[in-house]
Amino acid sequence: MARYTHATIDLNALKYNFMAMSRFSPSSKQVVVVKADAYGNGAVTVAKCLQSQADMFAVAFIDEVFELRDAGITQPILVLQGPHEERECELTKTLNIVWMLHVEQQLNWINKRIQNNEISNLHHWVKFDTGMHRLGLMLEDYDRLNADYTHIFHPTTVMATHLATADEPENKASSTAVNQFLSVMADRHSCLSIANSAANICLPESAKTWNRIGISLYGSSPFENNEMSISLKPVMQLNSEVIALREIAAGESVGYGATWTASKRSVIATVAIGYADGYPRHAPIGTPALFDGVVGELVGRVSMDMLTFDVSNIEKVEIGTKVELWGNNLAINVIAKQVGTIGYELMTRVSKRVPRKLI
Ligand SMILES: Cc1ncc(COP(=O)(O)O)c(C=O)c1O
Repeated sequence: MARYTHATIDLNALKYNFMAMSRFSPSSKQVVVVKADAYGNGAVTVAKCLQSQADMFAVAFIDEVFELRDAGITQPILVLQGPHEERECELTKTLNIVWMLHVEQQLNWINKRIQNNEISNLHHWVKFDTGMHRLGLMLEDYDRLNADYTHIFHPTTVMATHLATADEPENKASSTAVNQFLSVMADRHSCLSIANSAANICLPESAKTWNRIGISLYGSSPFENNEMSISLKPVMQLNSEVIALREIAAGESVGYGATWTASKRSVIATVAIGYADGYPRHAPIGTPALFDGVVGELVGRVSMDMLTFDVSNIEKVEIGTKVELWGNNLAINVIAKQVGTIGYELMTRVSKRVPRKLI
């Protein structure tokens, strides 16, 4: 028998979120971002579930393509970091890869191959930097690049950018970035891609030919402070159970380093999940979890395989009581905020040893 700890992956919620996000921009096509194992939800699972709706999938680098192709996924796959090595370009056709080219070295590699008739001049994406300063060519170099890489730059090449502050709906920097990008591209290129989840929701002018949608599909608000109320359904629920219970007296402490001391007689529940499963080790005292739907608070340090909660105020807790760490009834962003991170990080960190159960 295995331990009960597992993550449920709700495929109906995934489909629902896809429809909800598509409704914000009905004339755009959606790239479903499945990098980092679909943010921990399972890249193959997500791609299989959405393959009849999604126009394209996106991963970060080529290694993430193989798993999807081995599983029989046939849609084009956008590789967001482009080729890291020239020899990766050889696999463009075989793996039906769409490269997001963001540095001149990559433009050279691909331009050369198009010239030699090894690959087609269609289907490439070129990324420009509009203020994120992480990846992308500079807008002021557009004319020179357009002249130097004629095989890549043509009217149907997808011109893309990624916004630094789309998750802050009040921040004017996003509109400025969109306008700068459009002032260079709008009359020259018919295919554009700007929006991620947040931009698709709160910046309608950024929804163009293609949106690149990740976190919202997995049911988590892309807005840290949930400023925009959107109806999304959590896809992942992280579950465990109580494996030990004890009463301790006032003055006794709990866990490694004895970092929490009971101020009164307390009931402590030990739960079978820890940082080796992806639960954040720096979760502070007071982080909530639901015990059969009732809130208990984390006490003591997070261990590798276990957590300890004060459940003194919960009427009925016993060995075997089911625990929700996050999911349908406890939003992942609530935990993320407590821990000082974002839902993206919590989801992607749920480790391999936590079985994913599809519902
Ligand atoms: C270039 C790019 N586009 C789109 C996305 C998807 O963003 P989100 O998950 O916020 O929708 C990401 C995610 O990090 C990204 O790096």
